[in-house]
Amino acid sequence: MATSRAQWSGRVGFILAAAGSAIGLGNLWKFPYITLENHGGAFVLVYLVAIAVVGAPIMAAEIILGRKSRQSPVGAFRLLAIGRPGGRAWTGVGYLGVLAGFVILSYYSVVAGWTIRYIVIAVSGTLGELAHHPEALQSYFVSFLNDPAAQVFHHSLFMAATIGVVYFGVGKGIERAAKILMPLLFTILVILAIYSVSTPGFGQAIAFLFRPNFSELTAGGVLEALGHSFFTLSLGMGAMLTYGSYMRRQDSIPFASFTICFLDTLIAIMACIIMFSVIFSFDFEVSKSSTILFTTIPVIFFKLPAGALVSALFYLLVAFAALTSTISLLEVVSSYAIDELGWGRHRASLTMGAAIWVFGVLSALSFGGVDVLSRFNLIGRDSTAGVFGTFDYLASNWFLPVGGFFIALFTGWILTSKASRDELEEGHASLSWSFTMWRFLIRFAAPAAVGVIIVSVILGAEYQ
Ligand code: PHE
Repeated sequence: MATSRAQWSGRVGFILAAAGSAIGLGNLWKFPYITLENHGGAFVLVYLVAIAVVGAPIMAAEIILGRKSRQSPVGAFRLLAIGRPGGRAWTGVGYLGVLAGFVILSYYSVVAGWTIRYIVIAVSGTLGELAHHPEALQSYFVSFLNDPAAQVFHHSLFMAATIGVVYFGVGKGIERAAKILMPLLFTILVILAIYSVSTPGFGQAIAFLFRPNFSELTAGGVLEALGHSFFTLSLGMGAMLTYGSYMRRQDSIPFASFTICFLDTLIAIMACIIMFSVIFSFDFEVSKSSTILFTTIPVIFFKLPAGALVSALFYLLVAFAALTSTISLLEVVSSYAIDELGWGRHRASLTMGAAIWVFGVLSALSFGGVDVLSRFNLIGRDSTAGVFGTFDYLASNWFLPVGGFFIALFTGWILTSKASRDELEEGHASLSWSFTMWRFLIRFAAPAAVGVIIVSVILGAEYQ
């Protein structure tokens, strides 16, 4: 077992790595399309409330558990539950997190791989040709999904990049990657945002996002906003807990939690502004909203000047954002093997990465590439068709909310008030009323809200 645990070099390193985990396909691929499906305004408002009331307190809770225990999820729960009600049973929450990391990374890497293909075709000029004929782009995308070799190839590339970073460890791998990729990502995003202001659809995009119309909000939309707040902030499976276990004592947890939530939300909103500005500029008919990132956005980019450059930059941004998320997923699984099984980091990252890669091949082939895999439907709904659909459903609707629920219960009710207060105050000046507020949210508001999601899923609400 490692004697001295690796640490981030400082406050900025931790925040960039954790924000890198949070900001990913959830912000750039999923949030814009679910916002579109849920008619904007009111949905966005509910999402913002969910981030503030449920997401931010659980973010702080995970970091507290990690930094206090200096362990990955399984060890953290084992250590902190000693002599407390529930005892060792709490390690189950840690195991669920490791399983969630394994499952999410396996299919996430497949979608992330698509961005590599799009960077290549944007640069080679193929995307430009296709973009002038929307149907041609649509069928290109469909045949890409149906091509087993191409799917496995891009998934493999992305897994290799992920393993490559985690292999080098916390400081030389993850932190260094985040410090290079995150500023690049912000820069590209700002360039695209400035560009979107000049498009005719900008005003309409802002109105769509920020003018709430509550008659358009459904119960399913509220649940989806809540559920998504977990996924987008990387909560409920111990990713933030694991990153928190490398955090220095002199850095402030409240400040870090706030900043990570703020950056994640900012990027999600900016992604919507960019995409909706271009969509509204051309009054474009969006057929299947879950594929707008790959079938609609390019068409629109190429109607504007410098389409090739803009789209290449754009897919590069999505790939970077996805990579800083996939490394956090692999880190959870690898640090489990390092801390609990006593493996070395190289062995852990390579072996676990390879196992996840194999598992991910099932998802990669489930878009039409292999019939049994695309027809596989454990849950039996349209939205859960295929291995990919099943895993995504299980992870976002079950693993993360259930994990988050128990993390909130544990931190709010099992850990003593003094223990959590001491940890929150380390590296932070006096907390006074904000501790009381955080403790109220983590004990009551967060478990209640997440409990509602879980019960609705049990009752069969269709919301993803
Ligand atoms: N937060 C990431 C995103 O929005 C996904 C993720 C979920 C990463 C859970 C780590 C853990 O894309």
